[in-house]
Amino acid sequence: MGRIYNFSAGPAMLPEEVLNQAREDMLDYHGCGMSVMEMSHRSKVYQAIIDEAEADLRKLIGIPENYKVLFMQGGATLAFAMIPMNFMVKGKIDLINTGVWTKKAMKDAKLYGEVNVVASGEENNFKKIPDVKNIKFNKDADYVYMCDNNTIFGTKYKEYPETGDVPLICDMSSCFLSEPIDIKKFGMVYAGAQKNVGPAGVTICIIREDLLARTPRNPLPAYLDYRIHAENGSMYNTPPTYGIYICGLVFKWLLANGGLKKREEVNEAKAKILYDYLDQSKLFIPFADKASRSLMNVTFRTPSEELDAEFLEGAKKYKFTNLKGHRLTGGLRASIYNAMPIDGVKALVAYMKEFEEAHK
Ligand SMILES: Cc1ncc(COP(=O)(O)O)c(C=O)c1O
Repeated sequence: MGRIYNFSAGPAMLPEEVLNQAREDMLDYHGCGMSVMEMSHRSKVYQAIIDEAEADLRKLIGIPENYKVLFMQGGATLAFAMIPMNFMVKGKIDLINTGVWTKKAMKDAKLYGEVNVVASGEENNFKKIPDVKNIKFNKDADYVYMCDNNTIFGTKYKEYPETGDVPLICDMSSCFLSEPIDIKKFGMVYAGAQKNVGPAGVTICIIREDLLARTPRNPLPAYLDYRIHAENGSMYNTPPTYGIYICGLVFKWLLANGGLKKREEVNEAKAKILYDYLDQSKLFIPFADKASRSLMNVTFRTPSEELDAEFLEGAKKYKFTNLKGHRLTGGLRASIYNAMPIDGVKALVAYMKEFEEAHK
């Protein structure tokens, strides 16, 4: 069949160069006579793989020395629980509610203390990111929690809130490594790998040391204690070895292709092609407010569910997959993460034009 354009919100496309490298390494990694999947995580060869992945990620983002990088499991969903367990030491946090992912994080955080929703996009159906300049934060909160890019509604912060001495903790699952990140603004940044970084099963956590130095209010089981993972270099237990290796290949691909600044330029150019078309279309209706638009997840619809279904059916002949919107928003969604080539976006817009023409 050949490679297709996969517009999935995640797991998502990976760069072809990375998949080819993985294929080359598959049966015999660097003369070891085995694949990365088969080797002990305690072996020297594997230690070199994880060390290199961390070093490349640090270089790519420019992660300061006083932040730890952890390769974890459990997805962003486990982090929803682990963050309050580990860092809600006084028992009170501020949260900016931008949709499903912050609501889920809020539900778990409420098991451990008080959650103050200091701003919310709920009243406008999460089409808009709240204006961060007008938010009044509580000085005695343990941390402020936010989600940078809402994968479902297709919204993204254009600037981050200033939270003073209160650490800002950010779920970057669907925009991580799509643009430069100023890590110093955050106490913790984390992301599931399955959108921009690698296969599902790896969660990358970047945590400032002063947060790690906090003593949780209740004793934590070992796996749920970030400090234990940090003290053991992500090797307290068997880490997701193959996933981390693929993430490492993606970091090398990003470094070899101009780094995060270049990625941002490419991502802006890709998203512009789609949004420019949507803005002048007489058929398709964009979902997110212009000022809050995501570069990764472009949400839109036609005037009816029947037409949406016809659009999805017609997309098959061009081998486009996963253009259906999330069940909560309905409509359509094109996720155009780092590995989606610009030609994929151009091809999608060509099909949208053809579809519009046929439904005048
Ligand atoms: C922004 C965001 N946060 C959290 C999650 C949940 O991630 P996981 O399924 O890896 O737990 C997702 C999943 O799509 C997401 O897009």
